[in-house]
Amino acid sequence: MALWGGRFTGETSDLFKQFNDSLPVDCRLLKQDVEGSVAWAQALASADVLTQGEADRLQQALLDVLSEFGEHPERVVASGAEDIHSFVEQQLILKVGDLGKKLHTGRSRNDQVATDLKLWCKEQGDEILQLLIKLQQALINLAQRESEAVLPGYTHLQRAQPITFGHWCLAYVEMLERDVTRVQDALNRLDVCPLGSGALAGTAYPIDRHQLAQSLGFKTATLNSLDAVSDRDHVIELCSAAATSMMHLSRMAEDLIFFNSGEAGFIELADQVTSGSSLMPQKKNPDALELIRGKAGRVYGALMGILTTMKGLPMAYNKDMQEDKEGLFDTIDSWNICLQMATLVMKDLKVNRAQALSAAQQGYANATELADYLVSQGMPFREAHHVVGEVVVHAIEQQKALEDFTLAELQAFTPVIQSDVYQHLSIDACLGKRDVLGGTSIKQVQQALVRHDTPVAAA
Ligand code: ARG
Repeated sequence: MALWGGRFTGETSDLFKQFNDSLPVDCRLLKQDVEGSVAWAQALASADVLTQGEADRLQQALLDVLSEFGEHPERVVASGAEDIHSFVEQQLILKVGDLGKKLHTGRSRNDQVATDLKLWCKEQGDEILQLLIKLQQALINLAQRESEAVLPGYTHLQRAQPITFGHWCLAYVEMLERDVTRVQDALNRLDVCPLGSGALAGTAYPIDRHQLAQSLGFKTATLNSLDAVSDRDHVIELCSAAATSMMHLSRMAEDLIFFNSGEAGFIELADQVTSGSSLMPQKKNPDALELIRGKAGRVYGALMGILTTMKGLPMAYNKDMQEDKEGLFDTIDSWNICLQMATLVMKDLKVNRAQALSAAQQGYANATELADYLVSQGMPFREAHHVVGEVVVHAIEQQKALEDFTLAELQAFTPVIQSDVYQHLSIDACLGKRDVLGGTSIKQVQQALVRHDTPVAAA
């Protein structure tokens, strides 16, 4: 029977029940609903609404419900209850009879679900933080393992300047660091307990809401009951942090898919994160990375979904808000598994150093070096840029690298070039010169690794 049956004489239609029930989705909140209910029972006892003995019996029965059903969501769903709150109350009444009917005194499913979902967000957010840090560590380990590796850096997907592979790894460590702070920030802001806000106007019982908040592990209690029951900012903020982070992961995946392509061949992915083709026996496809790239789409979709659901909703609770969970759960699940998968990809990723180096040496990636050399000989940079452009045109025509020109040939472009030019055109010179904070030189990358306080054997 529904929790609210008394006012009704007619039957609800089967279609409406199917449409309205949220148990198949919110059954994931069983643990949080039990935690919130235990805290509420104790708060009612502190307010002398229940005796301590009653609260303790309710607490025990609630914990029994959790241990009975915690590992069996399918049995929860099979109960046919309307939602997880109704389910827990039904089970409680089965266990302790009429006492179970006292638990909902002064409480509404509106403050209950808001509390449950925040508890869930706190737990899942903490797990995401750990996974973000693990992926950072995997990238740091990879940067250390491949500290000698060099590859072409690109702009417009055209070879631009050589970079160290470690520098590429650390670019993503920086992005993930911002993701970490975004999650921490969201968790900080949501750490405010809505329980005790009632349906919308506040509970009518003398509950010590600060103590209640504390007993549930929240930093403090919400200050306005209307806002407390109708706020879903935390869902939006976590979905938004997830969308940004998935954007980062998708870019990382795309880089690696390209590096792994037959055309580039800079890296090799481990067998354990690739798959074959059912038709073409030679294939080893980067499915893990493609799925990471692909899942960014559904995460963006969920963010748009919850923003649109909340737009223009009148105060306070509206059933529209029941639609908050599916997208959030899917977002956190997708983000969670993508972080784990990306970490696994990094673990056994190998750089084909010779191939990557040779690509870095082609495509006139040292043209900027030649221009800088001309500047060092007193030529203004804009003019140097023009001269080197001409050199490159000739080099392309003759299909050779800049350093393949003889000194006399180079001097035909400008007499300021001397025999020391060649030492400026090597890869080592290109990299070594970028020895500025945030630059790609091996020395800077080493220093950055130290800054990240390199763990030795993690991830
Ligand atoms: N299943 C509902 C949700 O997830 C719980 C709150 C229902 N409140 C109500 N007054 N109908 O939002």
